[in-house]
Amino acid sequence: MKNRSLVSIDDFSKEEILRILDLAGKFEIQPVGKLLEGKVIATLFFEPSTRTRLSFESAINRLGGKIVGFADSSISSVTKGETLFDTIKMVDSYADLIVIRHPFEGSARYASEIATVPVVNAGDGANQHPTQTLLDLYSVRKTQGSLDNLNIFMVGDLKYGRTVHSLLMAMAHWNTTFNFISPEELRLPDEFKLHLDSAGLKYYEHLDFSDIISRADIIYMTRVQKERFSDPIEYEKVKNVYVLRNSMLHNTKPNLRILHPLPRVNEIHPDVDNNPKAYYFQQALNGVFTRQAILCTLLDLNF
Ligand code: CP
Repeated sequence: MKNRSLVSIDDFSKEEILRILDLAGKFEIQPVGKLLEGKVIATLFFEPSTRTRLSFESAINRLGGKIVGFADSSISSVTKGETLFDTIKMVDSYADLIVIRHPFEGSARYASEIATVPVVNAGDGANQHPTQTLLDLYSVRKTQGSLDNLNIFMVGDLKYGRTVHSLLMAMAHWNTTFNFISPEELRLPDEFKLHLDSAGLKYYEHLDFSDIISRADIIYMTRVQKERFSDPIEYEKVKNVYVLRNSMLHNTKPNLRILHPLPRVNEIHPDVDNNPKAYYFQQALNGVFTRQAILCTLLDLNF
């Protein structure tokens, strides 16, 4: 793979995904090195972030690379009216790779068409978050021993949840059964159901999951994203529909692990945090190794 971008999880084949997960495993054993020495990575965050930005920056620092960019576009020339086209055109000449998070769907694809260096989508609106997906896959494989034949519950905001959208597209490479749990207002969009239909995968939709939780291998909780609602009353109606509590986990499978891309608000009660089935903080740590693997793969650097 040379001079490639990662905009959608579908930009990588199943085999390429597996190669990245294997490489992330090597970085987990040895996360510090000099592979990125002499490289400059731009991190352009037009939307807030804690994990994605800081784990990318940690990954780059640990491999000896340098970072330019901004965590808040209000300190960039966007505030003076500069277009995304001009911003990317400039940064393209300052960096060897661009990581971008932007509120508009399709913005990362647009940036990749302007830039000559690889572009990594760190989240574009409600569309895709492919680097999160790779760390999610890494976490699933690490905790379950395999990506095959799993029963995955996705809970919460399935309409706007970009992490849900990219993860289900990736898991469609394996023989996955999906249970989608959401309020009516936040159901999974049809385009993603069609994707699963064309892959021949089974999925079920529910309003509640307390009666079926004993079947889950992975529960992927998500936050209802206030920032995606145009009507605050609609957000208030659904914001606390699902709250996972420790008491709900008594009759669950021994291999069950609870994932969440984070940040969480109320959807996982803190009394779950000390349950050995809670994996969301380790999942966030896996982001460093996975993003090291993504950067080195796109820059064609051998470990
Ligand atoms: N999971 C995730 O994207 O977290 P941040 O918004 O903090 O980057």
